Amino acid sequence: MRKTILVTGAAGFIGSNLVDHLLTEGYSVCGIDNFNNYYDPAIKRENISGAVKSSNYKLYEGDILDLTFLSQVFKKEKFEKVIHLAARAGVRPSLSDPYLYGQVNVLGTVNLLNVSVENNISQFIYGSSSSVYGQSKKLPFSEDDICQNIVSPYGASKRAAEFFVESFHHSFGLHSTVLRFFTVYGERGRPDMAPALFTQAIMKGEIISQFGDGSTSRDYTYIDDIVRGITLALEHDFDYEIINLGNNHPVKLADFISTIEQIVGTRAKVEKGRMQMGDVDKTWANVVKANKLLGWKPQVKLADGLRRYFKWLQKEA
Ligand SMILES: NC(=O)c1ccc[n+]([C@@H]2O[C@H](COP(=O)([O-])OP(=O)(O)OC[C@H]3O[C@@H](n4cnc5c(N)ncnc54)[C@H](O)[C@@H]3O)[C@@H](O)[C@H]2O)c1
Repeated sequence: MRKTILVTGAAGFIGSNLVDHLLTEGYSVCGIDNFNNYYDPAIKRENISGAVKSSNYKLYEGDILDLTFLSQVFKKEKFEKVIHLAARAGVRPSLSDPYLYGQVNVLGTVNLLNVSVENNISQFIYGSSSSVYGQSKKLPFSEDDICQNIVSPYGASKRAAEFFVESFHHSFGLHSTVLRFFTVYGERGRPDMAPALFTQAIMKGEIISQFGDGSTSRDYTYIDDIVRGITLALEHDFDYEIINLGNNHPVKLADFISTIEQIVGTRAKVEKGRMQMGDVDKTWANVVKANKLLGWKPQVKLADGLRRYFKWLQKEA
C-alpha cells in the first residue's frame, strides 16, 4: 500500500478526477468536501460515485473552515501528504461575494496549513491558479514574475493563500509545492466554466454569451494533464516550489468556440456582450520549470481534449 494522501475539495472537478487516478496508482486516499451549492451538489455526488466504492478511499464531509473537524480528521488518519484543492472557484462570483472568497480560500487554507504542521505532514501541495498573474503584460507567465496586477477577489484570495503557504514553509519548515493551474477543462468540468457552458449550449442549440470581441485568449489545459502534474508533484519532495501547469498554447475565444463547433458539428448561436469585470485579456503558462522539476509537459491538444470531453457529455446525456 502506498502513502495515505488527503485531498480537499475531493468531490469537485479536479479533486474527483485526481482521487480516481490516485486510487488506480495504489495510494490510500481520504477526501474532504462540504458539498456546497456553488453548483449542484448532485453533480459532486456523481463525481465521487466510483471512488466511494473503493476500500482504499474514505470521505469526510465537512468544512475546511471548521478547525475542530479538521483536527479530528487529521488525528484519526495518518496522512503523509496533503493536496489542498477545496476553494470557492470562479472569477465573476468573487466580485459579488469577496468576503466568502477571503474566508474559504484564505482562512480555510490557513486552517489546513496549521493542522498540517501540527501533524508533521511531509508535503503540502496547494492548487493555485493562473489568476494570480492578473493582467500581467509579461508573457508567457513565469513562476518568478511579480504578480502585481491582480484584477479579481478570486485571484487575490489565491495569491494571499500562496503567501501563507510560503510563510508556513519559512516559519515552520512545512515542505510545500504551489501548483498554478491554467483554465482546466474536460470530463466532470465545472458547469460554470466556458468549456462546459459553451459545449453543452452548442450541443442543445442554445445561445452562448461571448464576452468581449473574441480576441481574449486562454491557455486551456486538459484535466488528465493536470492530474498527471499533481501526481508527479506528489512523487517529489520539494522544500518549496511554485510550478505552472498550463498548456503553453493560448487560444483566442473566437477560435475556441469554432473548435467546439467543428467537434459538435453545429454552429454556435452567439450573443456578444461587453468584457466582464475581473476577466483578464490573456493567460499563457511558461512550463519550462514544470518540465525541469517534474518532467511534465502538456500532452493533450485542445481539439483532442474537447473531443474526449464531447464524447463524455454524449455518454452522460
Ligand atoms: N478548474 C480550473 O480551471 C482551475 C484553474 C485554476 C485553479 N483552480 C483551483 O483548483 C481547485 C479545484 O477547482 P475545481 O475547478 O475542481 O473546483 P470545484 O468547485 O469543482 O471543486 C472545489 C471543491 O471544493 C469544495 N469546497 C469548497 N469550499 C469548501 C469548504 N469550505 N470546505 C470543504 N470543501 C469545500 C467544493 O464543494 C468542491 O467540491 C480550486 O482550488 C481552484 O481554485 C481551478
